[in-house]
Amino acid sequence: MPKLDIVILAAGLGKRMHSELPKVLHNLANRPLLSYVLDTASALSPQRICVIYGHGGELVPKVINNDKVTWVKQELQLGTGHALMQALPYLDKEGITLVLYGDVPLIQIETLEKLIAMTAETSLILLTAELNQPSGYGRIGRNAKTNEITFIIEEKDATIIQQEIREINTGIMAISNKYLYNWLGQLKNSNAQGEYYLTDIVTMAAKANVKINAIQPEHVWEVLGVNSKAQLAALERIYQNNFANRLMEQGVILIDPSRIDIRGQLNCGTDVTIDINCIFEGLVQLGDFVIVGAHSILKNVKVAANTIIAPFSLIEESEIGENCRIGPYARIRPGTELANEVHIGNFVEIKNSSFSAGSKANHLSYIGDTVAGKNVNIGAGTITCNYNGASKHQTVIEDDVFIGSGTQLIAPVKLAKGSTIGAGSTITRDTPLNQLTLSRTKQISVPGWKRPAKK
Ligand code: UD1
Ligand code: CA
Repeated sequence: MPKLDIVILAAGLGKRMHSELPKVLHNLANRPLLSYVLDTASALSPQRICVIYGHGGELVPKVINNDKVTWVKQELQLGTGHALMQALPYLDKEGITLVLYGDVPLIQIETLEKLIAMTAETSLILLTAELNQPSGYGRIGRNAKTNEITFIIEEKDATIIQQEIREINTGIMAISNKYLYNWLGQLKNSNAQGEYYLTDIVTMAAKANVKINAIQPEHVWEVLGVNSKAQLAALERIYQNNFANRLMEQGVILIDPSRIDIRGQLNCGTDVTIDINCIFEGLVQLGDFVIVGAHSILKNVKVAANTIIAPFSLIEESEIGENCRIGPYARIRPGTELANEVHIGNFVEIKNSSFSAGSKANHLSYIGDTVAGKNVNIGAGTITCNYNGASKHQTVIEDDVFIGSGTQLIAPVKLAKGSTIGAGSTITRDTPLNQLTLSRTKQISVPGWKRPAKK
């Protein structure tokens, strides 16, 4: 195998995105387009990856923040040929170079491996595709008799007849480096766009009798590029659809595979069910038989087996045990750990807290910076007052505590094992073991009192 260098072209303006942000930094499933291409490039283990950046300046290397990459700035964007020329000082004198585009994120490793395997020290291999609607792309010119590739013509330079050609240049190609030096130096910009076209090296190769071959990707979506917001949205759907299909192949039940969004990694055990319109971000792990109800959002969450997340729950940076029941409408914020058989009901917000096995907060509560033991029952409307305006304080609720509805726990405070708190209490001091504590004002009734009436 010849030595491999990879150059990713990512300096272009992306005019049709109508955005201040450089095109390759736009997100697909919450990650910049360029990071997908970089991951794929790294998987091919090249000696070097060069990224040609330019439009948007230092923002691109700054956001991507990858110091294994050789970042090469193209000060003026004078065309794809000019872009590749900027990488020449960094490329091996021998070996081959694979050219990728920063705005073509879904290209698959297997396709590139095939392309590389075909590229000897003496050849030019193109990745082409047959499109029903080829407009906007460069067209592949072939010799009518031999079918050999002889040129690529950009749409803006093409004759009406050439525009009929449906085989297009994806832009991805592999070239032997020893030609590259020579050919790039000879590029001219006498064309409709006044640019140095990388595609012109095809004509040079044909003239020099260098073997030009082409392969096609297995799926057309691999070579779709992003030039507009609509194309970005279309690629997002394709990406999500591929992910959904992979999950279903693993046995996950998706009630509607067209209504799931995974912006990161989602690992599922057996017989997991995911209802419609759920969003998964970061790393989410769902154990066997977990059910995720409709419209739930899970970000960096681990959920153990048999737990049910009821609809409209938002769970972030937390761990949930087995056989729990969460939601509907639960909000579980970072740093929450729930043991097995915990129940968290509607309109309960929990932050940076732990619940041991069998504890429940079923309705309308705020629990922050709290350690709750086993079999604790937190009544509706319980609030931990964990913040005094300056600092946060902890609430400790020991095993078997029962908290009546409408209680405020002013932290720092500890409710000893077996405490019962009367409804409507404001608890400011630690409570003793197994006793009833309440801080309710006495109920009074005013005889003879009359409601004010309008005159
Ligand atoms: C290019 C190809 C065309 C192909 C199409 C596939 C040429 C001349 N044309 O056209 O045959 O069908 O891609 O999408 O190569 N870039 C730079 N610096 C520049 C110009 C471009 O880094 O000076 C980068 C862009 O960021 C982008 C890629 O090169 O990632 C392609 O540039 P773009 O302007 O989109 O090329 P097309 O006109 O679409
Ligand atoms: Ca393009």
